[in-house]
Amino acid sequence: MPKTGEPKLVRLNINEVDHDVVVEPRWTLSYVLRERLGLTGTKQACGNGECGNCTVLIDGKPVLSCLTLAIESAGKKILTIEGLAKGDKLHPIQQAFVDKHAIACGHCTPAMILTAYALLQSRRSPTEEEVKRAISGVLCRCTGYVKINDAILAAAETMRKGDKNA
Ligand code: FES
Repeated sequence: MPKTGEPKLVRLNINEVDHDVVVEPRWTLSYVLRERLGLTGTKQACGNGECGNCTVLIDGKPVLSCLTLAIESAGKKILTIEGLAKGDKLHPIQQAFVDKHAIACGHCTPAMILTAYALLQSRRSPTEEEVKRAISGVLCRCTGYVKINDAILAAAETMRKGDKNA
């Protein structure tokens, strides 16, 4: 990216780890995650807020990291897809995506899973309609969404049963 503005040192809390990073004021969070910190699980496609593929959670809420400045993310809790698994054990939502074959090219998968994670933190038993509404901002061009919906509903059931990795 071309240089603009005075670089600033900011502390980004990502997946419960503090990262001190020098950022230019116009750098987006997606750029810093991917290109400065190597957290390439966050995807970028359109880069202008239309596809939702760059979704991460900030303070528990889905945000478009391509439209969010890194500098304004300082002091908040950022969760990326790299922060969900515990060691080798996938989070139940990740496992459900595998089990239900809810992944095709995989580009939207991190955003889908994080969006589902945010939903299931507030709705333990979402309806199919609520799941569809929650993920409506994340575009998928391979799966047709049915398996993604199935995976999220299956994960909700697993989490209700008390999977310790949830
Ligand atoms: Fe951010 Fe498309 S890459 S919305």
